Amino acid sequence: MALVEELLLQPTSRSILLGAVVMLLTLVYFCSSRSSSQQQWKEPPGPKPLPILGNLLGIDLKRPYVSLCSMSKQYGSIFTVYFGPKKVVVLAGYQTLKQALVNHAEEFENRDITPIFADFNKGYGILFSNGENWKEMRRFALSTLRDFGMGKRGSEEKIIKETRYLREVFEQFKGKPFDTTQPVNYAISNIISAIVYGSRFEYSDPLFKDMVAWSNENIRLIGSASIQVYNMFPWLHSWVKNRKLIMINRENSIKGINRLVDRLQETLNPQDCRGLIDCFLVCKQKAEESGEKNTLFHKQNLLYTVANLFGAGTDTTAATLHWSLLLMAKYPHVQDRVQEEIDRVVGDRQPVMEDRKNLPYTDAVIHEIQRLANISPMSLPHTTTCDVHFQGFFIKKGTSVLPLLTSALRDENEWETPYTFNPAHFLDKQGRFVKRDSFMPFSAGRRVCVGESLARMELFLFFTSLLQHFRFTAPPGVSEDQLDLTPAVGFTLRPSPHKLCAISRSA
Ligand code: HEM
Repeated sequence: MALVEELLLQPTSRSILLGAVVMLLTLVYFCSSRSSSQQQWKEPPGPKPLPILGNLLGIDLKRPYVSLCSMSKQYGSIFTVYFGPKKVVVLAGYQTLKQALVNHAEEFENRDITPIFADFNKGYGILFSNGENWKEMRRFALSTLRDFGMGKRGSEEKIIKETRYLREVFEQFKGKPFDTTQPVNYAISNIISAIVYGSRFEYSDPLFKDMVAWSNENIRLIGSASIQVYNMFPWLHSWVKNRKLIMINRENSIKGINRLVDRLQETLNPQDCRGLIDCFLVCKQKAEESGEKNTLFHKQNLLYTVANLFGAGTDTTAATLHWSLLLMAKYPHVQDRVQEEIDRVVGDRQPVMEDRKNLPYTDAVIHEIQRLANISPMSLPHTTTCDVHFQGFFIKKGTSVLPLLTSALRDENEWETPYTFNPAHFLDKQGRFVKRDSFMPFSAGRRVCVGESLARMELFLFFTSLLQHFRFTAPPGVSEDQLDLTPAVGFTLRPSPHKLCAISRSA
């Protein structure tokens, strides 16, 4: 009922009639296309769809990944499901995901640009573009992020500096319960900001605060049930309230980035690039000077690439760090062992990346946090670039494909205790850290996360610095058992709202 109210902002009988006609046409198209393709090819199995609704009655739109995981138990590791009239092939389990994304990388590399993502990015940037635009922007982002220190000392220094600012904020609460969300968002956002803009922001900067808030709100709204409905029935666009909110936030963000780009343009020195934006502006200038007409280094691509890096670089890593603190408060015996190891190996000095190899238990805990936090359960949707024959099935060119990452992170054939927090998943009998292939929170293949090595560095440095200085506990009167691990609804999975105490360990 709430969903219907959310969708129908201004119902008029004329619009409803129009809707009914379009639905009827969709039904005719849906039935004819399904029956003809079924006659010719063996498609992945799946639940029988209803006209128009497809399999919607069997899918929890707020947590579709949960429904899809249970369907995979019935239909296997590759199955077809209809989100309304939209046919989607779901890939489940580590082996199938790896085979598709890595061994058949080219066939599965395209992004499925659903209506909300098309509105959102207009085909520019990295996350929601395909073809030459995607290749060029991804290549540019990866090489520039590397030049500015992704996975190297440059980023390490930026992150270490930011851990100090974050600790100062935590200290101000003097051990009293508080919501860690906002300070963690600001600190993480400042790392990608420093790389992109060339400098960090004060946590009190009004534009920075707004940009983080718009980005976070959009990620939450994109995961809402009404946006899933809009993706299936895009003609509903003017009635979907959340779409309007998303577009307002998006326009504001793009305007904000534009203002910052203009400021950097005024002081640009091609011999001394301060960040990724300067590098882009130099490429743009060179293309203009050489009269290159079809260059992809234009303003729109710059704005949307920056928006992508800012959004993807903030929400994901901040959500993971947010889970880290909650899980430490929930499992104090694990926190004890992490702190014992940090105290013994690092002592009072600032932890650095070099320490990771000497902190196997802490490293295992961070991996286990990422496995259990499962923040991107369905990755981002892909499509097939051509007709694909895969594991005995036929998948038509252009079919939407969902890599169900959660099914690899909790694959019962891969993990000893898939549903419980167990750092031993990443330790051998001698207590040494072991890599696990089915650990794939960053996805795999050609679309694998651009920021993986940066995110891993951020998680290690923030986690060790915070645990070195604070003991994280539930608020007084709340037991560890009462700390809820149910994720909030959103496109990426964050913990439900909660407060924690950060008690200074030096006191
Ligand atoms: C814990 C942190 C992170 C996680 C779990 C994560 C996870 C993911 C996942 C699952 C995808 C989709 C891959 C696919 O389509 O199969 C992705 C894509 C992407 N991520 Fe991340 N990410 C994280 C941090 C970051 C950071 C810090 C950045 C910024 C530097 C970033 C930038 C991107 C970009 C630009 C893409 C799009 C890649 C493409 O379409 O080619 N991510 N990430």
